[in-house]
Amino acid sequence: MPDAFKLGFAPFALPARGVLIVFCNDGLQLGPATRDLLGNAAQMVRKAATTERFKGKLGSTLDIVLPAGLQATRLVVVGCGQSSELKSSDYLRLGGVAMGKVPAAAGDAMILAELPNGAMKPEHAADLALGARLRVYAFDQYKTKQTDDEPKPGSAHVTVGVSEPGATRKAWADREALADGVVLARDLVNEPANILFPEEFARRAMGLRKLGVAVEVLDVPAMKKLGMNALLGVGQGSAHESRVVIMRWNGGKRGEKPVAFIGKGVCFDTGGISIKPAQSMEDMKGDMAGAACVVGLMQALAQRKAAVNAVGAIGLVENMPSGNAQRPGDIVKTMSGQTIEIINTDAEGRLVLADVLHYVADRFAPKFMIDLATLTGAIIVSLGQEYAGLFSNDDKLAERLTKCGERTGERVWRMPLGPEYDKMIDSKFADMKNTGGRFGGSITAAQLLQRFVGKTHWAHLDIAGTAMGSPQTDINKSWGSGWGVRLLDRLVSDYYEH
Ligand code: BES
Ligand code: MN
Ligand code: ZN
Repeated sequence: MPDAFKLGFAPFALPARGVLIVFCNDGLQLGPATRDLLGNAAQMVRKAATTERFKGKLGSTLDIVLPAGLQATRLVVVGCGQSSELKSSDYLRLGGVAMGKVPAAAGDAMILAELPNGAMKPEHAADLALGARLRVYAFDQYKTKQTDDEPKPGSAHVTVGVSEPGATRKAWADREALADGVVLARDLVNEPANILFPEEFARRAMGLRKLGVAVEVLDVPAMKKLGMNALLGVGQGSAHESRVVIMRWNGGKRGEKPVAFIGKGVCFDTGGISIKPAQSMEDMKGDMAGAACVVGLMQALAQRKAAVNAVGAIGLVENMPSGNAQRPGDIVKTMSGQTIEIINTDAEGRLVLADVLHYVADRFAPKFMIDLATLTGAIIVSLGQEYAGLFSNDDKLAERLTKCGERTGERVWRMPLGPEYDKMIDSKFADMKNTGGRFGGSITAAQLLQRFVGKTHWAHLDIAGTAMGSPQTDINKSWGSGWGVRLLDRLVSDYYEH
């Protein structure tokens, strides 16, 4: 399944074929090593820039086909704007832009990781490589018509020219783990629901065992025994059994409280008896993106041997209408003991999360827990597809998530919680109902979740807008974006590793 992307680091050199990619700033300056290597060809860059009105703006490109005096078939100049002001996410973007200029047929590419003021630092060159890796991702294994003489975009052999290959390879090891986590999350989101149902999802999560992650799977009898009736109610209409998967990575101090991540894993959401309209229903194969992110994150943490104790827990169900499906008006008793009246069977994600959140808080007493869920269409109405909705009972955690959002480009926007909203889900017949009406739909959903976290520090990320079908970027051309893996890996590395 992984695309055949080959990446290496080597000292600066000219390639014998393929595409050569170099960087310049908004003064059209190249780096010293780049200038030396290009020799007379460097003059060509200035001339071509004038003809093409290329200004070296961050992310813009200039193409020179069959550059005279070089063996490369194409010289691409990528602008990096004010090169002294680049952030880590800009290096990812530059890597993505560079890879975008390597057509499938080119085969090989050499990227000279140098800015006008000199070689990129090893960690920046590694960031660039991460951007390149994420850019070439393609979910194309169900396309049967590709032939051998038409190589896949992911089959390029890319060399990143650097000043310190050894140090860069070291820095790359952590980024490679992160890339593998994002790729795993994307694959899971893109996979159709006839292939990826709860049991199969659980099997794929078990693949993390080879990295030293302890993976425990709760089947239906185990969940019945625990009293997870809200989760089981959602899954009861499906021919596929529900599962909960608990993943534990213990890279931190012995006995130190874990950080915890919880994901909504609705492998397909028809809406159930409150069935959805046909239009775009196929997108609901991605309603497990929260769970996919958690698995991808656990992969990244384990593979880079993060110095943290982390728990990942995902609730896997399929929401289907059938003779055995849950009805509007049904009342379920959750594992926490609280009861929920089902008003709309399409508000199923919160039911799944109610039991998993309680289970994690109760069993692990984590430092904090963060859940991710493609929870509401309303969050797309509020924030569009650029920011995920953030809800939290903890200002410090919310602030850290917001900062990491800015650092990684996976941005979050805090939304309110409060007793006035909480009242909107009080029920005539049970402790609460699963919908709060048309107004503030994302908020009332979050209020329901909050009723299951107790005193645990908690944040909820509504990723309905960002996890699938979000606008394409220089580092993501995939429908399933793998959103959240980079954000949460950064949260862990910036604040919870020692
Ligand atoms: N999975 C959907 C939310 C969703 C919608 C995600 C569109 C991505 C794109 C969720 O289970 C759902 O159906 N929510 C309902 C809640 C309503 C019934 C209260 C919604 O948003 O309409
Ligand atoms: Mn739904
Ligand atoms: Zn859903």
